[in-house]
Amino acid sequence: MKEKLQKIRENAMQEIQASDGLAKLNDVRVAFLGKKGELTAVLKSMKEVAPEDRPQVGQWVNETRAAIEKMLEETKARLEAAELEAKLKHEVIDVTLPAKRSKLGHSHPNAVVLDEVERIFVGMGYEVVEGPEVEYDYYNFEALNIPANHPAKDEQDTFYINDKILLRTQTSPVQVRVMESKKPPIRMIAPGRVFRADEVDATHSPSFHQIEGMVIDKNITFADLKGTLGEFVRKLFGSNTKVKFRPHHFPFTEPSAEMDVSCFKCGGKGCRFCKGSGWIEILGCGMIHPKVLKMSGIDPQEYSGFAFGVGLERITLLKYEIDDMRLLYENDDRFLSQF
Ligand code: DAH
Repeated sequence: MKEKLQKIRENAMQEIQASDGLAKLNDVRVAFLGKKGELTAVLKSMKEVAPEDRPQVGQWVNETRAAIEKMLEETKARLEAAELEAKLKHEVIDVTLPAKRSKLGHSHPNAVVLDEVERIFVGMGYEVVEGPEVEYDYYNFEALNIPANHPAKDEQDTFYINDKILLRTQTSPVQVRVMESKKPPIRMIAPGRVFRADEVDATHSPSFHQIEGMVIDKNITFADLKGTLGEFVRKLFGSNTKVKFRPHHFPFTEPSAEMDVSCFKCGGKGCRFCKGSGWIEILGCGMIHPKVLKMSGIDPQEYSGFAFGVGLERITLLKYEIDDMRLLYENDDRFLSQF
C-alpha cells in the first residue's frame, strides 16, 4: 500500500510539474483528488485493509494528499503570476492617445427662441407659468367666451378625450386658470404645447407650441398692449422693427387685433420673405373681454387687461428663415447642429 501511495505521489508531482497552464493544472487536481480521482479511490478501498493497519494507512493517505495539495498550490501561484505577467506585457496602454470625445447635443431652435422670449418678458416683470396639456372643455372654450356652436369647437379641430376633456387647442386656458388662482396685478406668460387635428405639411402640425401672455391691473388700456408688444418685438427682431395692428376677432378679447411686424429681412421694402408686403403677421391680441374677466372672478368695473398669443414655431421659422416646419420635429442632428 505504501508503495502504491508513493507511486501516486510521484505521478502527481510529475504531472503537476508538466502542467503549463491553470486549466491543465486543474485537470491534474481532478485526476488525483477529485471524486473519481486516484487518491480518492485508495480511500474508498480502505475497507479492504486489515482493521489494525487502517490508522497507519490512513496517515499515509493523508500525507500523500497534503503533499499533492501543497504542490498544487505552489504551482498554481507560480502559473498565475506568469499569466499576469504575460497579460501585462501584451496589453500596452498608450497614455498619449487622444481621449474619446463624448458628443454634445444641441439646443432645439424652439428652445433657443423660447429662452429669449422668456428672458424678454421676465425682464419686464412677467411671471412664467404653465398649464395642463390635457384640459377641460370649460377652460379651453367656455370660460374664454367660445360658445358651443363656435367653429373652433368643431370636432375636426379638437382632439376630444371625452365630451368634457380634450387636448388644449391653445394656451389661452392658462389665462383662466391664472385669473382663478391669483389676484391682480397679474403679469404672466404661459408657454406650452397645443394640439389640433391638422394634417402635417410645411406649415401645419397636430402638435405645436404657443406662448400666451396676459396683463391685468387697474387702468390697463390698448396703449399698454401696444407699448408692451412693440417693446417685445424690438427686443426679439431688432430695434428698427415697426408694428402694425389690424382689427380682428377673437371671442375672448374685445377689441381684438392681429399684430404685424415690419419685415426684418427687407426692412419693409417688400421681399420674397414678406411676400412683397413689407409686413409679417406675428400674433393675435386684444383687451380681455369683460365677460371673460367676470367668469373667472375678476370685476371688470375695477380691472382691465390685455392678452396675446404667439405661435412659437412661427417665430422660430421666421427668425431662422426655415421654410418647412417639419424640420423642427425630425430631430435630425445635421439640422439641429446649426443652432
Ligand atoms: N388663442 C388664440 C389662437 O390660438 C391666439 C390668441 C389671440 C391668444 C388673441 C390671445 C389673444 O391671448 O388675445 O389662435
